[in-house]
Amino acid sequence: MSDNSQNQMWGGRFAAGPNAIMEAINASIGFDKRMAAQDIAGSRAHAAMLGATGIVSDSDANLMREGLLTVLSEIETGKFEFSTALEDIHMNVEQRLKAIIGEPAGRLHTGRSRNDQVATDFKLWVRDQLDATEGALISLIHALLGQADAGADWVMPGFTHLQVAQPVTWGHHMMAYVEMFGRDLSRVRDARKRMNECPLGAAALAGTSFPIDRDMTAQALGFDRPSANSLDAVSDRDFALEFLGAATIIAMHLSRMAEELVIWSSAQFRFVMLSDRFSTGSSIMPQKKNPDAAELIRAKIGRIFGANVALTMVMKGLPLAYSKDMQEDKEQVFDAADNLMLALAAMDGMVRDMTANREVLEIAAATGFSTATDLADWLVRVLDMPFRDAHHVTGTLVALAESKGCDLPDLTLADMQSAHENITMAVFEVLGVQNSVASRTSYGGTAPAQVRAQINRWKEVLG
Ligand code: ARG
Repeated sequence: MSDNSQNQMWGGRFAAGPNAIMEAINASIGFDKRMAAQDIAGSRAHAAMLGATGIVSDSDANLMREGLLTVLSEIETGKFEFSTALEDIHMNVEQRLKAIIGEPAGRLHTGRSRNDQVATDFKLWVRDQLDATEGALISLIHALLGQADAGADWVMPGFTHLQVAQPVTWGHHMMAYVEMFGRDLSRVRDARKRMNECPLGAAALAGTSFPIDRDMTAQALGFDRPSANSLDAVSDRDFALEFLGAATIIAMHLSRMAEELVIWSSAQFRFVMLSDRFSTGSSIMPQKKNPDAAELIRAKIGRIFGANVALTMVMKGLPLAYSKDMQEDKEQVFDAADNLMLALAAMDGMVRDMTANREVLEIAAATGFSTATDLADWLVRVLDMPFRDAHHVTGTLVALAESKGCDLPDLTLADMQSAHENITMAVFEVLGVQNSVASRTSYGGTAPAQVRAQINRWKEVLG
């Protein structure tokens, strides 16, 4: 083998270049080039620190910092030629820097290793994703608040087991998702706080004998502090797993909401009209308007949770510190992050564009004996019956209504009194769905006043 076939980064120890299969399985440049900006930011911070501490001369540090900017602009403008032989983004950048500035480029790797370098790059990338996820969640919450605001007092059926349970308000239902995505928001912020420690300077695994200034690089890269254990710093990927964990829960919430939109937009429910912008037609059935965006959002949990499981399996059982297995972290996280952002944006657009069918919701709210609990509560409150007895009396009235083919408000007073002689006309007031929801004023309940209080609280929280 000629010298050309050897990797110039470690050619000294090697007599031959790699087998083609080895190169193919080893290279990560095909995907880790997505971290080019983070890699160059990390290297520029490291170069500045090498200069400030006198480990390299100021002029070399400046050359490196300037040269790295040139490399960045070559990458951004698509002029950069990535090489699989150079394995990954770190060596591609360094090699190009050498071509641009010459010998001083060889000093950039002083006091660091690709192990702390890749950990730093990847953390910066994941941190950016956490920030983007935070922004997307806030936007989605605002979209939901808009829907809740408009329909704080619109009634609709509330379900358990997907059977009509009790009337609720549209606003209340929207606000349930605000609570879910609100917890997702706090999970994302929490993960960001915990992960924001800088691995750079941990070097290969043991730290370095050079008088580096880890506080300086940590600060330059926006980290709160340097990570405190060099072994942990190069082998920690739980920051990525936390992102995937949070992403999985977000995707699960999105999937539940998407499922409701699929059901609600069907001809059988007609609770909502999805906009043309987030639907598709059928090539054969002219009447069709399919909720494809919702269905795809519903499905995204598959690959996102898959990434979470895959990376957890990669990491389990790895001895400290770095192992090449860990190179398998990136594709999972990139794919999950891309699809999470897409799903969040699509849900955001669907929520903003959908129209609730207020009349249909109200009619549906009154069917299925949805105010049976209100009737039972009335018997307790007005006739002082124990709840269990009231439940039984109400049950016989539901059976009666069912046999007559009508709903509870359609029963006559005589029907009512056949179940309990003390029932009066006043009972009919609680059987209306508007009165039903208005009466549920307990904290967190579905009464429009409660819903509005929660909307206002969230608006304050988000500022
Ligand atoms: N491409 C590698 C990765 O993504 C970079 C670190 C390589 N370190 C090493 N000791 N071979 O993990």
